Amino acid sequence: MMNDSIIQYENKQFVVPDRPTIPVLPGDGIGPEVFAASRPSIAAAIDACYGGRRKIDWLELPAGVSAIQKGLLPLPESTLDAIRKYRVAIKGPTMTPTGGGHRSINVVLRQALDLYSSVRPVRYFRGVKSPVRNPHALDVVIFRENTEDVYAGIEFEQGTDDEVELAAWLRTKKFHVPFDAGLGIKVISKVCSQRLVRAAVKYAIARGLHRVTLVHKGNIMKATEGAFLRWGQEVVREEFAGSAVIASDFHGATIPPGQVLVDERIADAMFQDLILSPSRFNVIATPNINGDYLSDACAAQVGGLGVAPGANIGEGLAVFEPTHGTAPDIAGKGIANPGSMILTAAMLLEHIGWIEASRMLVAAFETVLGSGRMTVDLAVDRPEIQVLSTTGFGDAVADEVVRRHRSGRKTNA
Ligand code: NAI
Repeated sequence: MMNDSIIQYENKQFVVPDRPTIPVLPGDGIGPEVFAASRPSIAAAIDACYGGRRKIDWLELPAGVSAIQKGLLPLPESTLDAIRKYRVAIKGPTMTPTGGGHRSINVVLRQALDLYSSVRPVRYFRGVKSPVRNPHALDVVIFRENTEDVYAGIEFEQGTDDEVELAAWLRTKKFHVPFDAGLGIKVISKVCSQRLVRAAVKYAIARGLHRVTLVHKGNIMKATEGAFLRWGQEVVREEFAGSAVIASDFHGATIPPGQVLVDERIADAMFQDLILSPSRFNVIATPNINGDYLSDACAAQVGGLGVAPGANIGEGLAVFEPTHGTAPDIAGKGIANPGSMILTAAMLLEHIGWIEASRMLVAAFETVLGSGRMTVDLAVDRPEIQVLSTTGFGDAVADEVVRRHRSGRKTNA
């Protein structure tokens, strides 16, 4: 018999009970405050759309400094096991010590659960101040490979036995390796490149988006990023015939209507293109390190990290998390922006098929921002803004959900 609190995964589809248990890892710094502030609006959206028939039971799990303080590992095995069991989780940011200490919990989580796609939608919300003239022209979803590249943590500190041995071997291959160098290895595989590109193309097809852009630095790193491009194009040709085409296969010819166009950009040029002609892009698929830089650059273009949600998605497992960090400079002050967490929750709702609640949450969020009510990070040098606290903003979104429900409006659409 199906356990009625556990999300199942059958035939590559989530099967979601009406009252799923969903683990939450509040994390460090502002993580617990932004999650607490988001909860009323998430609950209100579910309630408004499903009238009590559906509800999420949040299961709080330790991770990060809070876990260490309880004498646990930064990412306890029991936390990992619970995510494996319940399949879909939401996570706040966790602190990573620089230059020593424990490894990034995010990196460990992504590797342990093989959450191979980092999915980051970036779009503009009316009312937010942006550094560019046409911020609404940018509306992209970034698929960043999440498990390998220089992020995989294969690093050798200068002067250690392993570094000395590896450097000596590289010198026998005639590579110039200074004696005072630390070493890192860039790993990009065919399987990981192809599953990422596959996920990005499927996403574009499912949502009727027209273009997937493979972003790489293959002109310089031919064996890794160049291979990413080649393998990505291969998977499109082999698995998406009739629904997606490679731009370079169609020199001078007309692209068949209704098909997703898969083109490519060199990573550095992409940073320019996103500023100069942002509306050309829909879905971006790229190796880990490029995706890291690109997602923050795109977020800045639409007004900052406070409004940028994210997800780490694998096979039958998904962990949703805001893109910002623990913001230690403002933690505990009640001023953090819960917007990214609210939008992250909306992504989670969409992922489990609760589309109406997801849209309702985004629409309410949009209305509150559009009415000039924001947290202080979005109000700098803007006397016209009504500044709200972290909980004040979360409550305003929840109230807007209720107001919309009462007036019979579900979304802005
Ligand atoms: P950060 O995102 O924590 O902060 C950068 C700046 O943005 C700070 O001025 C901060 O106050 C502000 N900020 C961030 N989120 C905000 C929000 N929701 N509302 C208002 N202002 C906000 O990045 P930083 O300083 O580089 O990293 C701090 C810590 O967070 C580090 O330990 C880092 O490893 C960790 N981190 C964790 C992430 C995760 O778990 N997903 C992601 C990024 C960083």
